[in-house]
Amino acid sequence: MSNQILASSAGSFKLGGDIAIHRLGFGAMRITGKGIWGEPADRKEALRVLRALPELGVNFIDTADSYGPFVSEDLLREALHPFSGMVVATKGGLTRHGPDLWKPVGRPEYLRQCVLMSLRRLGREQIDLWQLHRIDAQVPREEQFDCIGQMQKEGLIRHVGLSEINVEDIEAAAPYFKVATVQNRYNLIDRTSEAVLEYCEKHGVGFIPWHPLAAGVLAKPGSLLDGIAKTHGVSQGQLALAWVLARSPVMLPIPGTSRLAHLQENVAGAAVRLSKEEFAALDREGREEFERNGIR
Ligand SMILES: NC(=O)c1ccc[n+]([C@@H]2O[C@H](COP(=O)([O-])OP(=O)(O)OC[C@H]3O[C@@H](n4cnc5c(N)ncnc54)[C@H](OP(=O)(O)O)[C@@H]3O)[C@@H](O)[C@H]2O)c1
Repeated sequence: MSNQILASSAGSFKLGGDIAIHRLGFGAMRITGKGIWGEPADRKEALRVLRALPELGVNFIDTADSYGPFVSEDLLREALHPFSGMVVATKGGLTRHGPDLWKPVGRPEYLRQCVLMSLRRLGREQIDLWQLHRIDAQVPREEQFDCIGQMQKEGLIRHVGLSEINVEDIEAAAPYFKVATVQNRYNLIDRTSEAVLEYCEKHGVGFIPWHPLAAGVLAKPGSLLDGIAKTHGVSQGQLALAWVLARSPVMLPIPGTSRLAHLQENVAGAAVRLSKEEFAALDREGREEFERNGIR
């Protein structure tokens, strides 16, 4: 792996203003079974992927108690505990009732259980970044925010993030805690969250785009990335990650994979530099495709 490009090529960001991370992270949802349910098909490969992260310079990992459920957090502990020099961001607030089934539960006693159990599974005394996976529409959001703010005051959580939210939610959370990160779906051809991204950039909030590869669609040939990828001699997936990194200095992509070769390829995307013209052309074509097709 001597010529391998490291995640540090993506530059860094200070999470919550005080923890420096390399901007290209890793999403640990794909190291579970089909439908994000149960054990991964190839457990040994999943562990190889995780154990390669430090040597690839990846020091920001995103997971959730609901991935498996519990499988992703358990594997992370097995592979990487005590996580020296790494930031592990997890999430809670979604329950699982089977493959591909996700149901929000935001009652304060449940959110507290999520945090306490993630601490136990990860073997940590404080969670670096804990994210509310979804605001539960059945519970006043202020009750959910209040409980999270309390857990931060108690030191169980260092920084707080929110997922799949709008600008108004970020502002409503402000009396309870500082929102360190937002995690919304975003990629070249899914621009639903442009307004949230602009807000994050203005206020120095980290923006974690999930599905940065459009769940793999942008890693395959046959998209608007083909031409510029060929010019640079890089893969379509690497270009998709380079574009998203270039889009904003607060952007913290966490591409997910269950394969070591894909992880190495994705990390190398951190070093791809686009000219202004290339960035603008992709930006325009991505917006056009989004307007034509909507989200996938
Ligand atoms: N907040 C939320 O609600 C939410 C929702 C979904 C996801 N997330 C987080 O965001 C992370 C990223 O999202 P994601 O994993 O769903 O989507 P993604 O990163 O856009 O794409 C992952 C998919 O692309 C494939 N892939 C990855 N690298 C590749 C490569 N170099 N070549 C070809 N295929 C490649 C993977 O398959 P292989 O395993 O075969 O590589 C996987 O199926 C997740 O891991 C999770 O941590 C958060």
